[in-house]
Amino acid sequence: MLRPKKKAEQKVKLTKDSYRKASGIFRYLGPYKGIFFIGWIFLILSTSVGLIFPYMMGQLLGSGSASPANMEQSVKLINFNNINDVALALFILFFAQAFFSYFRVVIFTNVTENAMRDLRSAAFQKLVHMPMDFFNQNKVGELSSRLSSDVTQIQDTLKTTIAEFFRQIVIVFGGIAFIFVFSWKLALIMLGTVPVMAVIAVFFGRFIRKLSKKSQDNAAQSNAIIEESLVGISNVKSFTNELFMIKRYTEAIDEIKNLNIKSGVWRGLFVSFIIFCLFGAIVFIIWQGLLMTQGPNPQLSSQDFFSFIMYTIMMGASIGSLPDLYASIQKSIGATENLMEIIDSPGEQELNNGTLKPNVTGQIRFENVKFSYPQRKDITVLNGISFDAASNHTVALVGSSGSGKSTIASLLLNYYNIESGNILIDGTKIQDIDTYHLRKHIAIVPQEVLLFAGSIAENIRFGNTSASEEEVIDAARKANAWEFIQSFPEGLETQVGDRGIQLSGGQKQRIAIARAIIKNPTILILDEATSALDSESERLVQDALDKLMVGRTSIVIAHRLSTIKNADTILVLQKGEIVESGNHEKLIQDKGVYFNLVELQGIESRLGKTS
Ligand SMILES: Nc1ncnc2c1ncn2[C@@H]1O[C@H](COP(=O)(O)OP(=O)(O)O)[C@@H](O)[C@H]1O
Ligand SMILES: [Mg+2]
Repeated sequence: MLRPKKKAEQKVKLTKDSYRKASGIFRYLGPYKGIFFIGWIFLILSTSVGLIFPYMMGQLLGSGSASPANMEQSVKLINFNNINDVALALFILFFAQAFFSYFRVVIFTNVTENAMRDLRSAAFQKLVHMPMDFFNQNKVGELSSRLSSDVTQIQDTLKTTIAEFFRQIVIVFGGIAFIFVFSWKLALIMLGTVPVMAVIAVFFGRFIRKLSKKSQDNAAQSNAIIEESLVGISNVKSFTNELFMIKRYTEAIDEIKNLNIKSGVWRGLFVSFIIFCLFGAIVFIIWQGLLMTQGPNPQLSSQDFFSFIMYTIMMGASIGSLPDLYASIQKSIGATENLMEIIDSPGEQELNNGTLKPNVTGQIRFENVKFSYPQRKDITVLNGISFDAASNHTVALVGSSGSGKSTIASLLLNYYNIESGNILIDGTKIQDIDTYHLRKHIAIVPQEVLLFAGSIAENIRFGNTSASEEEVIDAARKANAWEFIQSFPEGLETQVGDRGIQLSGGQKQRIAIARAIIKNPTILILDEATSALDSESERLVQDALDKLMVGRTSIVIAHRLSTIKNADTILVLQKGEIVESGNHEKLIQDKGVYFNLVELQGIESRLGKTS
């Protein structure tokens, strides 16, 4: 399973295993390796050209002040006759650089986008096939935001960071080679100062960024206060807590102000440091270098001296950028590891190895089923449940909340493996049945219906994606939903979900029923499908449910006992055990738990009527 969530700012710890797992990314680059290879050739070309720039620039700048004696001394890469030649060569180099860089960027982007599309798709495919337990252990919001931030991280790295890192490394080492050729003495002086300063500057910069990160976090917190206050404005007003909220907000923004002022001081120091030390170091080298170009027998030609300075500046910048690039690559390796962990962990297809596809007529049999949720092994949720549901019969489950009713429904869908006992569907053990085959025959109408962003028609078709328009309308009719759907100007094409119109609980419920009808399941599970409704919509929904239940095996979990009076069998659950079973008449005669519940609800509803 996934490691516990990592905070973004936490240092990513990479082990050998991380690199091994992260290397799985090559699977996604593999299909594009030909073109990627060409991209690398362009990268090498553009980097090499970039490495010649400082030399040429130096020769150009140095030529102006060169004495004839000085000219002789110069390290000659190319023999230039005059300044115009150098300038022309520089233009050609620029052009080549532009050309190579263009193709490098285009190819790297192309490969990255393709590979990331494949990676995203693979990750999503795996996610939707993950066993239920995975979703108990990982928060959904966290999963999706991590997925997208991990992919973005990898994307940036593949597209630019790797190329940039490579380029800077080449510049640093190539630059060192060049400056040693010009003058090993000056090179040693340079290496003793500039890199040290550059590294100090980098860490200084990081420290400042950490400060501003903190103030960003605080800003987010203060925004949360605004949001809380405005969303809950009626709460704020009714408790006359305006002053309290204002005080909270003022404190928060005060803190931001102080942090920002503090970081301003550090930024000021940083700027002074850069000006004084870094430029100081460069001036020092220039001074030392100039001394070498003096005298009748100069150790260094002025062209080479200028080239030297050019390399020094470029290397300084490269060294400065390396730590961040390196950190970003490290982060990407961590991100890749995360994604690969999801992609390579077993999904339901691998975990459930049932292959039988029996003809499902809807006979259900629980034999002494014991179960606890995988992440809470210590708590027994079902303790020896046994019951039978014959084909086309209705079994009702009643019991207080937490007694295990929904869990029984989950087990029927084979969301979890049971510890002991048996669940038989038409005589076949549930774990021997192909999970997808099993679920095709079951529909569930839950208490909380989730509609997807899309049209009503699409939401109904969720039960059977190949259903025709007539079938959709027919299902909507049977679900008592057609009337209200028709009342919308756009009818079936009305958009629902987050950005669409808001449907009432009862309307959503009826769309869910239409969804179940169109699936035409052999086994129907109604998990408190009417509990959240007012009595008018309950009547409509109940009527639709009654129609839906005809000719199917139904497991009905109901809060209101009046809705299950006609069930063939009623099971009364308490703390994961069946304490009573039988039909309504029998259970009333027994005068046990069920009888008491019915009495209680009767009194409640009478009280409800008189009040
Ligand atoms: N996904 C889960 N992970 C761990 N425990 C759970 C999970 N779902 C339910 N439970 C626990 O199992 C018990 C039965 O829950 P449930 O079947 O939902 O009860 P009911 O539907 O009868 O209200 C409860 O104690 C509940 O806390
Ligand atoms: Mg429940």
